[in-house]
Amino acid sequence: MQLAGRNIVLGVTGGIAAYKAAELVRLLVKEGASVQVAMTEAATNFVTPVTFQALSGKAVFTDQWDSRVANNMAHIDLSRAADALLVAPGSADFLAKLANGLADDLLTTLILARDCPLLVAPAMNRQMWDNPATRRNVASLRSDGVVILGPGCGDQACGETGPGRMLEAAEIVDEIVAHFQPKLLAGKRVLLTAGPTFEAIDPVRGITNLSSGKMGYAISRAAREAGAEVTLVSGPVCLPCPRGVTRIAVTSALQMHTAVLRRAADNDVFIAVAAVADYRPAQFIEQKIKKAQCPTPPTIELEQNPDILGEVAALPRPPLCVGFAAESEKLAEYAESKRRCKKIPLIAGNLIGDGFGGDHNTLVLFDDDGQHPLPPAPKIDLARQLVARIAALLEKRPC
Ligand code: C5P
Repeated sequence: MQLAGRNIVLGVTGGIAAYKAAELVRLLVKEGASVQVAMTEAATNFVTPVTFQALSGKAVFTDQWDSRVANNMAHIDLSRAADALLVAPGSADFLAKLANGLADDLLTTLILARDCPLLVAPAMNRQMWDNPATRRNVASLRSDGVVILGPGCGDQACGETGPGRMLEAAEIVDEIVAHFQPKLLAGKRVLLTAGPTFEAIDPVRGITNLSSGKMGYAISRAAREAGAEVTLVSGPVCLPCPRGVTRIAVTSALQMHTAVLRRAADNDVFIAVAAVADYRPAQFIEQKIKKAQCPTPPTIELEQNPDILGEVAALPRPPLCVGFAAESEKLAEYAESKRRCKKIPLIAGNLIGDGFGGDHNTLVLFDDDGQHPLPPAPKIDLARQLVARIAALLEKRPC
């Protein structure tokens, strides 16, 4: 329930993507938000108010002169109760009206009268989106502080393909959740590693581990929500890249090492979450090893991989380095000794049984101030707490 207690006014305007707004209401309510829908007259040609009433549990407003509002000031009452105003879909015509401050129906009027943030998810044909008039309108809205979500790119209802699709409902919900997070890392650059590495033996076999990448992906999402510019160097995992995060896909520890060392000095924070293989096969066998050609089981000689975190921490002006220690026993002892050995200010420790592969985890943070246990929680909640600790350490750091 990431939007518990939040009041959101959802404005639906006239475009075919209005059908996705129904799913959006459902997902917002599922996250705990209270949703009040207001529709333009054009929107009611695509989806009826009854649909939104059923999904939000609240009567929908479409008319500025709605006699249900005792003082006849729906535009003021609705916007004052809101923590955020979201328009999805935002048609080209509606964007033009907003950019020019028009107030000729309930939705435009309540937007003009608002005292809360406004987020708009545009939806239109690609040519309409590319039209210089729309570009101008979007630029004006941005400079007025309106948050523009998307649009996405891809198949359009008209049969064409290109930019202008409304973001998917789940993506819009993620953006709203992100919007409400404190911007503790605004202006900072964060580099992370996540997932396992895969050390090839031959073209079809290799050495890897069971890291799911979920913790690292959750932290990259939390860092981006906190306003950072985030680069995620990821080993092979089956997870979607969090919105707004730049992902660099790598396979082996050596590739991860190159990708990180190339960027580390340009970042304020480096968070090493990846379960990097300690060893790799000394030789890569070009052709698949054939059982029939090996009279005895073959021996694989291993050599050590570079310690990526250790090397970054040893740079002349290192970013603030954060490590992870997944241990099967003696968590405090092993995590603290890793922290000292790698000379890093913060390490997050967890017992392997507590979180490996799942969506929840239990962490203990170790830094110069001692131990900070973070009780069992969804990984995204722990990630946000870790980001808060990192922001506090950054503030204390001498320039
Ligand atoms: O070195 P060790 O595996 O004990 O420490 C774990 C921490 O070091 C994790 O943060 C992990 O991402 C990082 N690490 C690394 N490069 C390695 C091994 C571990 O960055 N080769």
